[in-house]
Amino acid sequence: MISTYEPTSKKIRHYPANSCLLPICSLHGSAVTTVEGLGSTKTRVHPIQERLAKCHGSQCGFCTPGMVMSMYALLRNHPEPSMEQITAALDGNLCRCTGYRPIIDTYKSFSGEKGCCPLRGTGQCCLDKEDVCAASDKGNQMLSDLCIPEEFQPIDPTQEFIFPPELMRMAQQQTKRTLVFYGERTTWISPANLCELVELKAMYPKAPLVVGNTSVGLEMKLAGVHHSIIIHPTRIPELHVVSNTNHGLVVGAACCLAQLRDTLMKVVPELPEEKTQIFRALLLQLKTLAGEQIRSLASIGGHIAGRGSTWDLNPVLAVGRSLLNLASKDGTRQIPLNDRFLARHENADLKPKEVIVSVLIPYSKKDDFVSAFRQAERRKNALSVVNSGMRVLFKPNTDIIMDLNILYGGIGPTTVSARKSCQRLIGRQWNEQLLDDACKLVLGEISLPPSAPGGKVEYRRTLLVSFLFKFYLEVLHGLNKMVRTGRTKYPDLSKKNMSALGAFHCETPQGVQTYEDVDPAQSLQDPVGRPIMHQSGVKHATGEAVYCNDIRAVDEELFLAVVTSSRAHAKIVTIDVSEALKVPGVVDVVTAGDVPGINGTYYEQAFAQNEVICVGQIVCAVVAESAVQAKQGVEKVKIEYENLEPILTIEDAIKHNSYFGKEKKVEQGNIEEGFKSVDQIIEGEIHIGGQEHFYLETNSVLVVPRGEDNEMDVYVSTQDAALVQVLVALALNVQSSKIMCHTKRVGGSFGGKITKPAYFAVIAAVAANKTGRPIRFTLERNEDMLITGGRHPLSGKYKVGFMNDGRITAADIECYINGGCTLHESEVVIEYVVLKTDNAYNIPNFRVRGRACKTNLPSNTAFRGFGFPQACLFTESWIAAVATQTGLPHEKIREINMYKGVNLTPYKEEFDATNLVKCWNECMAKSEYYSRKTAVEEFNKQNYWKKKGIAIIPMKFSVGTNATQYHQAAALVHIYTDGSVLVTHGGIEMGQGIHTKMLQIASRELNVPLSYVHFCETSTVTVPNAIVTAGSVGSDVNGKAVQNACQILRKRLEPIINKNPGGKWEDWITEAHAQSVSLSATGYFRGYVANMNWDTGEGQAFPYFVFGAACSEVEIDCLTGDHKNIRTDIVMDACFSINPAVDIGQIEGAFVQGVGLYTMEEIKFSPEGEQYTLGPDTYKIPAVCDIPQQLRVYLLPNSQNSIAIYSSKGVGEAGLFLGCSVFFAIRDAVAAVRKERRLTGTFTLNSPLTVERIRMACTDNFTEMIPKDKPGTYKPWAIDIA
Ligand SMILES: Cc1cc2nc3c(=O)[nH]c(=O)nc-3n(C[C@H](O)[C@H](O)[C@H](O)COP(=O)(O)OP(=O)(O)OC[C@H]3O[C@@H](n4cnc5c(N)ncnc54)[C@H](O)[C@@H]3O)c2cc1C
Ligand code: FES
Repeated sequence: MISTYEPTSKKIRHYPANSCLLPICSLHGSAVTTVEGLGSTKTRVHPIQERLAKCHGSQCGFCTPGMVMSMYALLRNHPEPSMEQITAALDGNLCRCTGYRPIIDTYKSFSGEKGCCPLRGTGQCCLDKEDVCAASDKGNQMLSDLCIPEEFQPIDPTQEFIFPPELMRMAQQQTKRTLVFYGERTTWISPANLCELVELKAMYPKAPLVVGNTSVGLEMKLAGVHHSIIIHPTRIPELHVVSNTNHGLVVGAACCLAQLRDTLMKVVPELPEEKTQIFRALLLQLKTLAGEQIRSLASIGGHIAGRGSTWDLNPVLAVGRSLLNLASKDGTRQIPLNDRFLARHENADLKPKEVIVSVLIPYSKKDDFVSAFRQAERRKNALSVVNSGMRVLFKPNTDIIMDLNILYGGIGPTTVSARKSCQRLIGRQWNEQLLDDACKLVLGEISLPPSAPGGKVEYRRTLLVSFLFKFYLEVLHGLNKMVRTGRTKYPDLSKKNMSALGAFHCETPQGVQTYEDVDPAQSLQDPVGRPIMHQSGVKHATGEAVYCNDIRAVDEELFLAVVTSSRAHAKIVTIDVSEALKVPGVVDVVTAGDVPGINGTYYEQAFAQNEVICVGQIVCAVVAESAVQAKQGVEKVKIEYENLEPILTIEDAIKHNSYFGKEKKVEQGNIEEGFKSVDQIIEGEIHIGGQEHFYLETNSVLVVPRGEDNEMDVYVSTQDAALVQVLVALALNVQSSKIMCHTKRVGGSFGGKITKPAYFAVIAAVAANKTGRPIRFTLERNEDMLITGGRHPLSGKYKVGFMNDGRITAADIECYINGGCTLHESEVVIEYVVLKTDNAYNIPNFRVRGRACKTNLPSNTAFRGFGFPQACLFTESWIAAVATQTGLPHEKIREINMYKGVNLTPYKEEFDATNLVKCWNECMAKSEYYSRKTAVEEFNKQNYWKKKGIAIIPMKFSVGTNATQYHQAAALVHIYTDGSVLVTHGGIEMGQGIHTKMLQIASRELNVPLSYVHFCETSTVTVPNAIVTAGSVGSDVNGKAVQNACQILRKRLEPIINKNPGGKWEDWITEAHAQSVSLSATGYFRGYVANMNWDTGEGQAFPYFVFGAACSEVEIDCLTGDHKNIRTDIVMDACFSINPAVDIGQIEGAFVQGVGLYTMEEIKFSPEGEQYTLGPDTYKIPAVCDIPQQLRVYLLPNSQNSIAIYSSKGVGEAGLFLGCSVFFAIRDAVAAVRKERRLTGTFTLNSPLTVERIRMACTDNFTEMIPKDKPGTYKPWAIDIA
């Protein structure tokens, strides 16, 4: 948080900021508060930090300091904020773990709105505990509190830091003078007054004026643009004016967008409505523009001068006829901010020596109508795909157009105007004929070539006319409203068209979480089954938690950066590092030739040798004294390639027979015979896109040579420390016993840190070995996304035979996944796809075959759910197709074909589906499915342009892996003579709360308070050969090992305890030590039985199943493709939950990750195999605005799982698939659209169901109006790799 003091107004301004975009020189005179400054465990934990931890709003903890600071900045400005302000304050923060609900719940406790939740409107309320406090069948209470608000520390404003008086004095007393900061490459000049500014601009016409740095900073950071002089004009009073004039509002160019918003919010209610049309249109855009951090930095002057094509305010300012007040050494002048200015026409633009002092935003007139539109891939904190500002001025008291302006952003490199079309429409009446002509004219004037950068060409064309239609209706509605003021009567909108008005807004999400309480007889000390806070929760919130790259600088450490392939497939002809070695600070360049042992594995090289097989493959590494120098060195390495033909898509791979391993097949019944006796057969295919892990902590490793016996310490962010150890030892040609790997915690991983970190560690270790110095290697976000793969895209074909009553009796399924360039987990993923495709359905004649395709893309890898989310979205798609074909309700098809009672899977594993049916029935009841379905149908009858959809999906998720060896686990438990207990085990903490659960288990087994038990780190030193932490079984198997170790210890202590039953734990331990009883034990668990035989296609593939069901309701905007998640009910059979807060956190977090997978996250590749989506700007994960307004989770009570510890179940992954209930709810809404428009028959929707796909599926006269390009006649900007 930045705090500044304004001496004239004597006001302190606090605002959140993105540190990555904040030049240090811009902070002169400001106070900076970081999360560490807010509170700490050593002094006092701030209530924001405390509540976030106690409400389970932190899992991996990597996003937590950001959340804390956003909230803190808000509270400093608004001590009792509204819920709208709280939600808006979190617009710019991303969390990949929690699903946001617990974060919002935490911050609700600070809200000034003490009212009840919106569930009350539904006849229910989360505060009405009757619903949830019912006893379960077993008699235990059902609870819905995961934390105890009564325990929260109150906010104490007297404890807040005060703005440093010396900075205040400095701001008040200082005679203003120019500040100049000299850097090695850049000089930063901050002039004191306007005269100096224009002098400087005359002297350095090419120097940028940096205010928020949100545009210049990005160019410098990502595009390598360099400026030797930077002018920082924020201390000039003229650039901060905000004044009401006779003509409009004058806003200084250095005012930030948050100030503009606050000013407009204040001004609008004070002025007559007719004067504020432009202001309201701006406010609409400002509500969704970026996040609060960017809005607090970015200036209106920078926004106008920068003129990004997708930026939202300029089209509105331009149609509103805003004026720019300019100054230069030669004087001042005013120019219009119009379409020509935005298109950078020379005679309408700023001169190089001019600066914008302020902008005059005019009042609108009586007969003016101004509207703003935008549609982005995510509703908030995402640049628009297309935006628009539109204005019409009518001849007084008529609907005859006097003036018309229509501007669009996101169509070309600059904002474009439909100027000619508008001119031709002047004088026309506002009626349907005009709309029709306007659409044709606009589409004729504004063209978007089929290969246009950014893709989505037909969608963007459709938005041009969809927005126009919305504008037409808004104006018509406005004209009608004027009747009341006694003017000419214009017809109001038809009921049908009324539903086109308005866009979706983000409302504050609400949640209810229900779980079974522990047995009332359970001792209060025993923490098992209780919602215990994450073991590191408070440290996450205070910033004290140490992640790999937080480890303090080690003596003599060097930094490493990698050179990656720019080709998808090519021979490496030469690598020239000579220029790189000349860069100051560069110490060495490391290549495959420097690896003393094995360069990676049989499957994948750590450094590419001779050939590159994907864009982003690591070729060599530069080590330097600083990270910046290492990056500069990377820029200088020259690689000459000879291109080879790449294979990029699944289609290409099939054509070239390019696969990993053999086909995997599972079959039951007789498929050929099955098809002979069915009533109907349908065939089809579906394509499901991949997913980027987007863990918040990028890959990071620190290698420290110990200096003797070739020993090395490797600190690494991984899910598999043992694999790191093996690969590093092999690469260095030393024994594994010399390599000590340590992982304290990982800032999210989701499967993405199973194999790849080992290769990063090899690279760093080889560099450490070569230079003899410690090496730190942390990837930037764009590098991480470029180099590592993600979830496998899947392409599936189906042939399904069924009876007219909905029974599916035969299904023949073929699946292909895009594995990328190396094996990694691709073969296992396709095995799981094949094994799990049946989901919850018993189909007597069933065959599924699968292949993993080998392509020249970054290698795809494990990802939460491991093939299941793709496989079963495919399954649910053909189930939906059967429903459409039979005309029966989807839920009926699902119910009819669902497993019931004791069953065999297609690979002959026995399981009991009773709880699957229970989850389904509970979900039906809890969601009030049938009554809401009726309400949805009713809504759809009333609304033509907005539709609702509802869907309920069952789930049978198999936990763990299909081999016993991957379930083995070990733990080491020490008891010290003071009675404290140190637990170590092989599992890695990635946010899933494994250590918290292990401490709970140790506490119960040893019968000591939780506070006695500590966990330090996962290390290959304490627990050797640990298996990867994955597959939802980490806590299961390590829990068994911890339990075993504790039971061994307890047994050893038994004679002592029996002798002194009234003694204390400490007494027994002292006595045990005195009697030479060992107080350290290793616990072991051999693993669950699992043995799949691929030759026969049969076996016990998985130890057990988690059942669940989810029901989701959505609303879509048929004209833009936007959708709103209204409500989701999840019922999960988690059996006895060791920690309901952790388990519900996993379910909710996974669910939201699934919503991302199925509805918004889209990885894009160029036709050359280059990934476009390399950061949060281009790849959208769900934000706080994307979660359902109501999210309810219910853990099924009275459920047993005898094989797992305490009869629990692993629920780390299962919830992700349930995100597809949102996909199918959208599908349901789209189906309603298509039915109404008489588009009959089945239809296919591929995943993710983005705004583009939703819009284009809602075929109407606008989608039909746009020009279509024949595939094959042009080169698309992006290719489909699934
Ligand atoms: C993460 C992120 C998300 C974003 N999301 C959105 C979004 O959703 N919608 C949207 O519309 N925009 C979005 N933006 C873009 C944002 O609106 C612009 O980057 C911002 O408005 C630029 O203002 P600035 O003060 O930071 O400009 P700076 O980077 O400081 O400067 C930009 C340019 O303006 C010039 N300039 C600045 N002030 C003056 C002046 N007084 N006179 C003459 N020239 C001047 C500079 O010379 C420079 O060339 C986003 C940006 C980021 C980084
Ligand atoms: S807790 Fe938010 S990213 Fe992990």
